[in-house]
Amino acid sequence: MISAFDRFGRVAYSGMGLLRLLVLCTLAACCMARSPPAPPLPQRPLPLLHPLGCNDSEVLAVAGFALQNINRDQKDGYMLSLNRVHDVREHYQEDMGSLFYLTLDVLETDCHFLLSRKAQKGCKPRMSYESVYGQCKAMFHINKPRRVLYLPAYNCTLRPVSKRKTHTTCPDCPSPIDLSNPSALEAATESLAKFNSKSPSKKYELVKVTKAMNQWVSGPAYYVEYLIKEAPCTKSQASCSLQHSDSEPVGICQGSTVQSSLRHVPLIQPVEKSVTVTCEFFESQAQVPGDENPAVTQGPQKLPQKNTTPTSSPSVTAPRGSIQHLPELDDEKPEESKGGSPEEAFPVQLDLTTNPQGDTLDVSFLYLEPGDKKLVVLPFPGKEQRSTECPGPEKENNPLVLPP
Ligand SMILES: *[C@@H]1O[C@H](CO)[C@@H](O)[C@H](O)[C@H]1NC(C)=O
Ligand SMILES: *[C@@H]1O[C@H](CO)[C@@H](O)[C@H](O)[C@H]1NC(C)=O
Repeated sequence: MISAFDRFGRVAYSGMGLLRLLVLCTLAACCMARSPPAPPLPQRPLPLLHPLGCNDSEVLAVAGFALQNINRDQKDGYMLSLNRVHDVREHYQEDMGSLFYLTLDVLETDCHFLLSRKAQKGCKPRMSYESVYGQCKAMFHINKPRRVLYLPAYNCTLRPVSKRKTHTTCPDCPSPIDLSNPSALEAATESLAKFNSKSPSKKYELVKVTKAMNQWVSGPAYYVEYLIKEAPCTKSQASCSLQHSDSEPVGICQGSTVQSSLRHVPLIQPVEKSVTVTCEFFESQAQVPGDENPAVTQGPQKLPQKNTTPTSSPSVTAPRGSIQHLPELDDEKPEESKGGSPEEAFPVQLDLTTNPQGDTLDVSFLYLEPGDKKLVVLPFPGKEQRSTECPGPEKENNPLVLPP
């Protein structure tokens, strides 16, 4: 072919073409060979991140897997659900499959992470006035032929919905209060006392308040959620010195206290107070056969002996990440003083590397076969060059719970 060209008069032209072809091949070879950038070459092209549509079914599946893994990694708090995919890039790597860079807009659900997987099927985002929302960034590795799904790293930032803004649409709605508010603690204590008074054998103690709201009904009303643990002694035991104090939480309760008082009458005598309580006990994964509703309102018959959530065995597979809780946006100084873009309203930092060429992450432990398996990890991509199909459609049609 080449010699045929050489013999004729198009040498210069085809030579140029060939040169360009060669350059392209070299570039392509560079891009394809995802080997670690051992001696950094100055003119190396940057590895390519492909923007994907945020409503693609595959992307939604990947986002679902990633969030599942984030939830599974929690040691405290409530499960998150996906509101929308904000941004997604794919880095395809020869022989290794893909590493996805996901930015997810999330909502807190009403399910505590300690609830069984089965119970978590029914997790719903909280009502708008009690919403906690935010953003997660996650890296997720998928190698379909090898059936590998792995979350190397994530970070999330959450905030409660703005009280002032929900107040304009729902002035009478309950509003969140500080978990350390003495009235919240009192409401939890009173509702737990009611639970204990109806519990036939076991007694429970408060571990901590996990959610607290107040509202004015006919008087002040408090709504709380709190974790409970077994009290060291049963009621029938008159004296008991067994004090294993740091037992694990065994359940979560929702309680409320509503005072009915006349607004203008000073509270000279104790006002009437109605107290409610509902507790749900955590179950170990094993013992749920046929039990449709693990919620027990009063007097639990069976309790889990241990409530250990299944931990994925080797700690080396545990992702690096955490969920950061920030105060509601209105609590902070207005933007001018911060001088930042609205993007910084939910600052989420996720960088395993700052090297634009990328670094390698050893994931050999995910693969059964011998030999090193390395993923190239890049700095987390910014907004530039994201797909026009991002962010995707949101599930909760409420602008107050969407990060900017
Ligand atoms: C996650 O965020 C925290 C700050 O909130 C930061 O210190 C940490 O480095 C971040 N993790 C990664 C992997 O970037
Ligand atoms: C997202 O995808 C679903 C199904 O593929 C489609 O029905 C829906 O209209 C899409 N939404 C948007 C905003 O593109």
